[in-house]
Amino acid sequence: MTVAGHADTELPYAGPWRGVIAEYADLLPVAEQTPRLTLLEGGTPLIPSVRIGPALPGDLRLYLKYEGLNPTGSFKDRGMVVAVAKALEAGARATICASTGNTSASAAAYSARAGLPCMVVIPHGYIALGKLAQTVRHGARVVPVSGNFDDCLRVVRDIVARYPIALLNSLNPYRMDGQKTAAFEVCDALQAAPTYHALPVGNAGNVTAYWWGYCHYRELGMIGLQPHMLGFQAEGAAPLVKGKPIEKPETRATAIRIGNPARWRDAMRAIRESRGHITTVSEDEIHTAYSRLAAEEGLFVEPASAASVAGVIRLAEHGFFDDGPVTVVCTLTGHGLKDPDYALDAAPNLEPSPPEAEAVLDRAGILESAGRPEPLPR
Ligand code: F0G
Repeated sequence: MTVAGHADTELPYAGPWRGVIAEYADLLPVAEQTPRLTLLEGGTPLIPSVRIGPALPGDLRLYLKYEGLNPTGSFKDRGMVVAVAKALEAGARATICASTGNTSASAAAYSARAGLPCMVVIPHGYIALGKLAQTVRHGARVVPVSGNFDDCLRVVRDIVARYPIALLNSLNPYRMDGQKTAAFEVCDALQAAPTYHALPVGNAGNVTAYWWGYCHYRELGMIGLQPHMLGFQAEGAAPLVKGKPIEKPETRATAIRIGNPARWRDAMRAIRESRGHITTVSEDEIHTAYSRLAAEEGLFVEPASAASVAGVIRLAEHGFFDDGPVTVVCTLTGHGLKDPDYALDAAPNLEPSPPEAEAVLDRAGILESAGRPEPLPR
């Protein structure tokens, strides 16, 4: 395995994991001439929940697929590596995407790696700080637009219809192919498909790609049954649940602040074919799941990512899993460091204390810390 694209080095990759393209080459539309581009994305852990799952009503085993551990901190890297490799293969000279932030960070990083100029179109004022920082530092041309994500995507579609620039949104089929590998990994880890797979839904590419991935594995005989797909949208940005586009989508989970998803039909077909379910979660439910993931599971995610767990909690409390036993996988789509503003909102007192032991202990209040989860049994 050698470094792809324009690099003049032939350094082999060390270590067991070789990235999405090399690991799943047989299941991806890659040929010998496809550059072996990689930042060693994929191979993310499927982490058993130790507190949220066990505390839920119903008979379920809850696993968390922590996609925040991809190279740019979100699940987008899986599809992006394939899309950019195929763009290189096709001789593309530049790349473009519209984004609520994670796609742009990933597109910028993989375009940088491939040596391609990248342009990203983002909704002005609604990109989390970490994502913007990444995108800028990877050297993408950032164009904020006065409008929402749906406006950005419309502009980008207009541009690629008229100029030879490679589109890196999930309308690009190679993005979907690469994203399917997350479903493969879940099955490889569990040696079966889960009963349910829960995801936040924004532009609706990921829920579609997971479903296609499970279908692909079923066709290959790798799994016997496919999971039911569970999709969750923020209440103020829930076009698929409401059955109509939302002109002014609103949610603090800016990653999924989308009113007219590009993969609308495909996602609804995935929900229907899998005999799954799609519903909303409130801002409070997202915030609670976000806080609990960090404080009780040790998993820092961005707010949109907590929507999958918020949704499973809501369904469990309504008796959805009472006929278990069932295995539920929630994808945690992006890392908590992406959105420091959300994290520090209503943070405890961060004013400096005098540099004295008593004052520091006093301030920390650690000695009388109530409300901590019980330690795990040994
Ligand atoms: N979670 C995170 C962290 C996301 O960034 C996104 C989408 C989603 C969930 C929803 O996935 O769009 O496939 O339904 N982010 C896109 C972006 C829209 O531009 O980064 P989806």
